[in-house]
Amino acid sequence: MARKKVTIVGAGNVGATCAHWIASKELADVVLVDIVEGAAAGKALDLSEAGPVMSFDLKIVGSTGYDDTADSDVVVITAGVPRKKDPVTGQFPSRDDLVKTNQKIVGEVTREVAKRSPNAVLIIVSNPLDAMCHVALNESGFPSQRVIGQAGALDTARYKTFIAMELGVSVRDIHGIVLGGHGDEMVPLPHHTSVAGIPVLELMPREKLDAIIQRTRKGGGEIVGLLGYSGYYAPAAGTVEMVEAIVKDQKRVIPSAVLLNGEYGYNGLYIGVPAVLGANGVEKVIEMELNDEEKAMLDISANAVQSVVGVLGY
Ligand code: NAI
Ligand code: 2OP
Repeated sequence: MARKKVTIVGAGNVGATCAHWIASKELADVVLVDIVEGAAAGKALDLSEAGPVMSFDLKIVGSTGYDDTADSDVVVITAGVPRKKDPVTGQFPSRDDLVKTNQKIVGEVTREVAKRSPNAVLIIVSNPLDAMCHVALNESGFPSQRVIGQAGALDTARYKTFIAMELGVSVRDIHGIVLGGHGDEMVPLPHHTSVAGIPVLELMPREKLDAIIQRTRKGGGEIVGLLGYSGYYAPAAGTVEMVEAIVKDQKRVIPSAVLLNGEYGYNGLYIGVPAVLGANGVEKVIEMELNDEEKAMLDISANAVQSVVGVLGY
């Protein structure tokens, strides 16, 4: 079987960490691209030099150009600018300005990769996540099955981590899912959360779980508060979980931002739902039964996503 090839655009914290884990799992050859001269080439070379010690044997290259990306099986897009203070004015950019800036970056990057890898599956990571999926879909012209956003894998991982910490049990035994947009209105589902099959609400009171849900919703901000910039180990882990499902055609059920066409009552909107991921990208959207409270929370989250998507002007 021919070796798979994964391009990662944006060799910053999340992009480089994705490359690291793709290499350590020997999932595919890796092409890193970054606009900053030397950044992608330097990280690719440094990572390649770890191969003899860590026992992976892959082709890992990096540059500012796109020639090496041709015929990638998967392209991960992490390029973007973070929300940070202007050093001169001390002001944060408005949300709309940030959306427009990252729309331009994700749009340019998508056009470059799409023309060289017309059959690739695109995994979008850049924020604001759900809106950037719309940008990549529009600019690539790909079918929506091959344009997927990473958020639910991360948000679910955070949710499971906090439950395991609270109960003092292995994270391996926590099962659960977080739906909705990648924002403070995301929707963890208590009634679909279990510990080795035991409903979580038999093991902790509702107030404790509610606190965990709130912590999950603010999980990105908690890391920013500690580091001063956003996290990258868990975001990259969630992304590589999706990459692995696709390159190995695993048919994994992973909450992912996908374009809904009537499922859950939404049309033409990217939002996080359980999706079967395999070689063709999103092979199926699973429609869970939601109770009234869960559906109401999903509506709030969908409205929040819709308001950001509105800024794009499509
Ligand atoms: P970072 O700043 O470390 O890396 C971004 C990289 O993109 C930089 O190296 C930059 O030079 C590059 N870049 C900017 N414009 C480019 C262009 N036109 N072409 C190629 N490369 C370009 O940021 P980090 O922490 O890696 O985050 C990346 C993005 O992912 C951000 O938008 C962040 O908010 C988002 N994110 C999303 C998560 C999710 O769950 N969806 C989780 C964590 C981060
Ligand atoms: C996170 O959730 C900032 O989206 C990023 O960590």
